[in-house]
Amino acid sequence: MSVIELDRGQTVAAEQQSPRLSFFRTLRFRLVLSVALVHAVLMGAFVWSAVNKQSEAIRAELHNRAHSLITLMAVASTNALLAEDLGSLAEVTERVKQQPDVTEGAIVDVRGDVLASTDPHQVGHRLPAPPDGVVVHRRNRLRLHEQIRVAGQRVGTVFLEMSTRHLKSELAATRNEGLLFILLALVVGSVAAWVLSVLITRNLYTLMAAVRKIGGGNLGVRVELQARDEVGLLGGAFNAMAESLQRISEQVRSEHEKRTDAERLACVGELSASIAHEIRNPLSAVINSVKLLDRANLPVSDRAQAIAILNTESLRLQRILNDFLDFARIRESRLLEDDVCALIEEVASLIRQNPQAAAVRVEVECDACPCRARHDPDHLRQVLWNLMLNAVQAMPEGGNLHVRVERAGRIVRISIADNGCGIPDHLLDKIVRPFVTGRKHGTGLGLSIAQRILMQHGTSLSIVSHVNVGTEISFDLEAV
Ligand SMILES: Nc1ncnc2c1ncn2[C@@H]1O[C@H](COP(=O)(O)OP(=O)(O)OP(=O)(O)O)[C@@H](O)[C@H]1O
Ligand SMILES: [Mg+2]
Repeated sequence: MSVIELDRGQTVAAEQQSPRLSFFRTLRFRLVLSVALVHAVLMGAFVWSAVNKQSEAIRAELHNRAHSLITLMAVASTNALLAEDLGSLAEVTERVKQQPDVTEGAIVDVRGDVLASTDPHQVGHRLPAPPDGVVVHRRNRLRLHEQIRVAGQRVGTVFLEMSTRHLKSELAATRNEGLLFILLALVVGSVAAWVLSVLITRNLYTLMAAVRKIGGGNLGVRVELQARDEVGLLGGAFNAMAESLQRISEQVRSEHEKRTDAERLACVGELSASIAHEIRNPLSAVINSVKLLDRANLPVSDRAQAIAILNTESLRLQRILNDFLDFARIRESRLLEDDVCALIEEVASLIRQNPQAAAVRVEVECDACPCRARHDPDHLRQVLWNLMLNAVQAMPEGGNLHVRVERAGRIVRISIADNGCGIPDHLLDKIVRPFVTGRKHGTGLGLSIAQRILMQHGTSLSIVSHVNVGTEISFDLEAV
């Protein structure tokens, strides 16, 4: 039996992998049906013509026999009729009676009186004048008559009636034999078609199971088909394709690993450089202030200024490190199915209370509240806060902050738009990277934290911004 060898050492029977198809749509059914139909039509036509020919032959044979018999009867009774020898005439009808299929035979004189008959009761009776023509078919009977003439003068008539029952039963037997033959051909043809279809489709099912395995990611699948026909060639082509797919996939995987390693290293380098860059200035300020404080004769005003710098810069250092730790320690999102409108309203009202938003008009527009979507509420709150705070910080002179929630089929789209300063073009491509900032005191982690969280929700930020016009940042969630 054909089997599929899997790279994990399993062996799976091909038939077990076949999908559920309606029987009438299977190749097996169609093949058997077409063979059966062809057989039925061809054999039917052949048998029909054979039966017709045979019935014609049987009918003709009966007619010939009847004609021969009646001619013999006429010849045998001519002299006896002239001599009015009733004994000889009775002998003739007696001999006729012994012939197969004869039901009646009679000899009548020129007046129509029965002189001899196979039925003794008819002797002496007058028979009606015979109809025109020679052969008359009655129900299951064949009736003939022949005039006996001597020197052109009619001297009498002989009647003969033969049963066609035997003929009909012979015809019926021939027909039944033909039908049996059709049935037999039908059964044999269907069985042969079935066996053929099983042989073909078994290999197809094996191939189908293997294709499914490949589709499922198991590229180590190979088929072993016994067939040496086109299906066998297909199996060979399939194996070659699987081989090549596996080779390419391994190359891609190794390339990907190499690239991921390189990207990881680059990322670590970039992050280290960014952190170093971020902390270098405050750290230098701290070092200089400490050096200053170390001087014995430092004036009081300078000492106070140095302490103030030390205070501010160490706090800045702490904030940078805290932000970085927050960024590095984002936990896995725990997705719930809940309303997002209430959460947005909650963050919007917190933003309104923020002193930086004193001159900003914050509006929330929700298509159909409540609007349920899959999300982690704490994470989504942080994303919304980061985005809305950025928008507020982009409008130091005031402006409009518009948050919109719309549902489109299986998606809930949340967008945050402002008419602030916009993002400079040179920053737009890399704005979601960590430590990329356009603000003097910004850390550049707000958008990258938001992006990382959204990736855990299976989505990402989409940013449209024009300098001095405004910015719109949006993302999608899965609606429920
Ligand atoms: N709505 C906005 N309008 C204009 N510029 C924006 C907007 N949102 C973000 N930006 C720009 O993107 C930069 C990066 O933003 P991000 O939130 O990542 O960092 P940040 O705000 O600079 O610092 P923080 O880590 O404190 O959030 C911002 O400095 C700002 O220049
Ligand atoms: Mg920010």
